[in-house]
Amino acid sequence: MLQNLCLHGFKNFRDARLPLGNLTLLVGTNASGKSNLRDAFRFLHGMSRGYTLAEIIGEKWIEGGTLQWKGIRGGTREATYCGQATFLIEATLSPHVGGGTYKIEVEVGANGKAPRVIRESLWGGATMYFDSHDTDDPPAQEGPQYLFVRLPRDARNRKHGKRLRFVSSQPVLSQITAHDEATAEVRSVAKRVMQALGSMRFLDLAPDAMRIPSLPGQDILGDRGENLSSVLQSICESASTKAAILEWIRELTPLDVTDFEFVSDQTGKILVTLIESGGQKTSAYSASDGTLRFLAMIAAMLGTKPAKFYFFEELENGIHPTRLYLLLQLIEQKVADGKIQVVATSHSPQLLGFLGDKARADAALVYRLENQPDARIRRIVEIPEADRVLRDQDLARLLASGWLEDAVAFSEGAGT
Ligand SMILES: Nc1ncnc2c1ncn2[C@@H]1O[C@H](COP(=O)(O)OP(=O)(O)OP(=O)(O)O)[C@@H](O)[C@H]1O
Ligand SMILES: [Mg+2]
Repeated sequence: MLQNLCLHGFKNFRDARLPLGNLTLLVGTNASGKSNLRDAFRFLHGMSRGYTLAEIIGEKWIEGGTLQWKGIRGGTREATYCGQATFLIEATLSPHVGGGTYKIEVEVGANGKAPRVIRESLWGGATMYFDSHDTDDPPAQEGPQYLFVRLPRDARNRKHGKRLRFVSSQPVLSQITAHDEATAEVRSVAKRVMQALGSMRFLDLAPDAMRIPSLPGQDILGDRGENLSSVLQSICESASTKAAILEWIRELTPLDVTDFEFVSDQTGKILVTLIESGGQKTSAYSASDGTLRFLAMIAAMLGTKPAKFYFFEELENGIHPTRLYLLLQLIEQKVADGKIQVVATSHSPQLLGFLGDKARADAALVYRLENQPDARIRRIVEIPEADRVLRDQDLARLLASGWLEDAVAFSEGAGT
């Protein structure tokens, strides 16, 4: 699990820290920076795929002209705060995945130069696993640029740890796992961090994508909800999971769904059809947008291969407020044991009123003060009065346009 994400000079965050819980709801107005946080998580995830910086920030294509990875919005030019030369991302992992603080500073490369790592480190408390250090060597005039890292002293207690050299066009973290000269411990810690960052999904659900038939066996849900039908089919092989999904659909929608049918077309692709108790059948083509969103979110979290980390964009999209409460309940149940972590963005402060105590303590406001370009992050419970307003269920006050933003601006001395 990720405990903290710190951003320095990344997109509209000059200096910001996002503490993370099992469920972290991010609220904030348009253009406050919620999706920029998503971009930071995607950057970390891109690293775990072993991509170069140019691929992570740009794009990654594979044979056959297939786009495998969509880069970071705005590319290198808009990756740094107000056009600065570098950004730094720091992620802290919780102790039950081995802990550790990973930092990477990237120079985005001006004038057509490739982006490169200029500093990078992995520490576990006071224990260093690797840390870059400056060198007196002048930068190479041509060919690859390098980053030098120090490793810990080895068991034979050599005075200095080894120094290794890595190409700076790719994060050291994804190179060191296969480096023969790194100690087994360093490689295994780096692998653990890579695995934690690798198991991330970013869902920005679009009902149209969920209405496209998919081939049985395609059991990974696409970011927009692609493959929904085949993912559901594979999940429904387990009778108990299927029963749980049907129950959630009955709770979340007015439909009395008792079963799913997977109807195949001439190409062998299937499309999910909901069967109601009266025999009424509704295929994904005519199922409502909200129903499909529920199905996709449930499929993502109850599925056979859930990721460790989910980022849901605009959770409340297309979902009726009375059902949002149940959806949050489902998510809170799923994340309770700490095996799955969810970060979700929302425009609706109303959602805050539906959260249980733990998730409420972790919810955060992303905001900008008037006339200031940088975005800030504050836990809702730390905003004066906000916790009381939430506890009193004074949602009308909370919903009054911009109340949270006003309260936080006032507390920072900008509200007068
Ligand atoms: N490199 C940058 N430097 C400074 N500000 C930036 C940079 N890149 C993006 N921004 C700011 O971030 C804003 C976009 O933020 P983001 O997409 O995260 O908003 P959001 O909170 O997700 O909004 P919405 O709710 O509309 O989706 C831009 O409007 C711009 O003001
Ligand atoms: Mg957004």
